Amino acid sequence: MNLEKLNEIAVAMVAPGKGILAADESSGTIKKRFDSINTVSTEESRRDYREMLFRTSTAMRRYISGVILFDETIRQKAADGTALVKLIEKTGAIPGIKVDMGAKALPGFPGETVTEGLDGLRDRLKDYYKLGARFAKWRAVIDISRRGGKAMPSWTCIKANAHALARYAALCQEAQIVPIVEPEVLMDGDHSADRCYEVTEWVLKTLFAELFEANVALEGTILKPNMIVSGKLAKKQAGVEEVAEKTVRCFRNAVPAAVPGIVFLSGGQSDLEATAHLNAMNASYGKQIPWKLSFSYGRALQAAPLKAWKGKATNVKKAQEAFAHRARMNGLAQKGKWSKAEEKKK
Ligand code: 13P
Repeated sequence: MNLEKLNEIAVAMVAPGKGILAADESSGTIKKRFDSINTVSTEESRRDYREMLFRTSTAMRRYISGVILFDETIRQKAADGTALVKLIEKTGAIPGIKVDMGAKALPGFPGETVTEGLDGLRDRLKDYYKLGARFAKWRAVIDISRRGGKAMPSWTCIKANAHALARYAALCQEAQIVPIVEPEVLMDGDHSADRCYEVTEWVLKTLFAELFEANVALEGTILKPNMIVSGKLAKKQAGVEEVAEKTVRCFRNAVPAAVPGIVFLSGGQSDLEATAHLNAMNASYGKQIPWKLSFSYGRALQAAPLKAWKGKATNVKKAQEAFAHRARMNGLAQKGKWSKAEEKKK
């Protein structure tokens, strides 16, 4: 492992004014997204959609540091025969790959999951490196809603997921690939932002202990967490400043300063919420924190272009404009320079 090179990639992933496009929806998830615009999900329609995003070149060059791909996409070619990975590289963005095999039911703990995909991962990483991936992603899911009257999560769920994340991260670094470690505490449920804080802190502290025990070098690691927000069904919703303050406080307590960057998932927040929250954190705390705070959004970057596209070639320009706009807004939020006035400038 060459830590200096891993660190260079990690730092480039959180370059000023830039963040990550999460375009790694699994076949099931992308089908759901396409269903919402009455478009059939085929290998070709998935390719066309993603090619359209990667060819939004000005936005990609200015605001996107890296793209997380799904196994199918990293092997796919654009309509003109160019590998999609090459299209991404041409914009200066770094190709990345989702390597987990999904969250599966955790035996003995109804309603909870553990993410699978460690078996054979060493060989798959070698293959992905050859295909151009320089970073990877593994998502663990922590559900804190109440099921059957039981408060979740269990310690078993947190421990099992943190351990798997650490083993994944160590394998990535061995393969000269920067691991994005993503422990997502879900927004599902009616819990308060304080409950989200409590569980997120517990999860992060457990994760960093596991990373230490697995000999993972934090300088070559990127964290992809949830923000500290109220549950979707909570009557009282934390405001933008409260989310920013609680999220930064939680990370100060749990994330070592050696981690170069923290890139948030949007996790079901609206486009505007995801942008406003990131902006508030950078505007209020950007100068006092040891890590870069940026985005690694899936839905919050893609909802608008997906809606504009509707599966039709005639809508490509409109969809690219919608994507470019959201990318620019989040690029501004990374610098704490987003505003409602910027939002109106199309
Ligand atoms: P969302 O921003 O839609 O939550 O997706 C990000 C992601 O990559 C989740 O693993």
